[in-house]
Amino acid sequence: MPEPYDFDRPIDRRTVPGEKWGRYRDRNVLPLWVADMDFAAPACVQDALIRRIDHGVFGYAGAWPSLVDAVVEGVARDHAWRIEPDWLVWLPGVVSGFNLACRMAGSDGDEVFTATPVYPPFLSAPAHSNRRLAAVPLVLRDDTWQWDRVAVEAAINARTRVFMLCNPHNPVGRVFDAAELRWIAALAERHDLVVCSDEIHCGLVLDQERQHIPIAALDESIARRTITLMAPSKTWNIPALYCAFAVIPDAALRRRYVRAMSGLVPHPNLLGMVAAEAAYRDGGPWREALVAYLRGNRDHLMEALGGIPGLAAARPEATYLAWIDCRALGLDAPTAFFEAAGVGLSDGAAFGMPGFVRLNFGCTRATLDEALARIARAVAAR
Ligand SMILES: Cc1ncc(COP(=O)(O)O)c(C=O)c1O
Repeated sequence: MPEPYDFDRPIDRRTVPGEKWGRYRDRNVLPLWVADMDFAAPACVQDALIRRIDHGVFGYAGAWPSLVDAVVEGVARDHAWRIEPDWLVWLPGVVSGFNLACRMAGSDGDEVFTATPVYPPFLSAPAHSNRRLAAVPLVLRDDTWQWDRVAVEAAINARTRVFMLCNPHNPVGRVFDAAELRWIAALAERHDLVVCSDEIHCGLVLDQERQHIPIAALDESIARRTITLMAPSKTWNIPALYCAFAVIPDAALRRRYVRAMSGLVPHPNLLGMVAAEAAYRDGGPWREALVAYLRGNRDHLMEALGGIPGLAAARPEATYLAWIDCRALGLDAPTAFFEAAGVGLSDGAAFGMPGFVRLNFGCTRATLDEALARIARAVAAR
């Protein structure tokens, strides 16, 4: 009998410390901002954690063989990518992972390329390593966010060292297809770039006809220059357990990466690794049920947005994030406007694209409905 998964069950997150619900603790604002979900982690993950906590001793531990097996098999099963155990470099987080990529490649004053809008730490990472950011906006064509190939090719020059890719993409929700990825791979080859591909959202593809393609899985030549970052944190909603990994097939690149970590980057959290093993090994059915629920939320959201004049969004193909264009409303401060309406969203300016807001629909349908009703009322009352 299939396990029942009740994503409609409300869980009061205000009873525990946390960024998402803590921000509006004393205000009637529904928090649909930071990227975690309001759902409890799968039972298989909770059970594994409880068993490990019951042991009572929490000494140092690096990744162990059954964890490595669970990840290697999970990536092969879910993304048709065969990775070798020794390609894995364990990390406490994906943000550390892409900052390391900036640090490892090139030298002071070199450039790191990315496309906007994008998860804000992409924009600050180059400067942390004295690199310059070269950013080009994605363009909305045929209701789909796409690469402006001419602008991207013009932005890449002899000082560019790293191509930072976010796939599936936060915040526009694209799942880049093989043709787009092949074009990026060819560009990287031509300009001898390291590709740092943040694939943290790869378990959350909502469109049934689409699948996540790790760029490094295209062929050996792109694999040799790619650092792929993955984690169980988004898919199984365990981000504060701090466990992630880089997949680096090329031994020389891997050595440079590990050298950049020396003395600075600790092992992942022990409980994060316990949770990761359970998630990759046993969390498949939960993930499928989650994705179906999120797909329902996405469809519901798109329909509701269609009825609110002044707001528009391209349908996210993956993630639980919607990237909403509110420029037609002519708001000076979009997030303040929506907060005053009782909904907490993320401001597009931080993603490099003012005039937009990001809405996190990783919540119960009831919360989403209430948020949409508040948004619709506030827009109608302007
Ligand atoms: C694209 C992307 N990368 C990385 C992260 C965070 O990764 P971590 O918490 O493992 O540093 C997020 C969280 O929202 C994200 O959306």
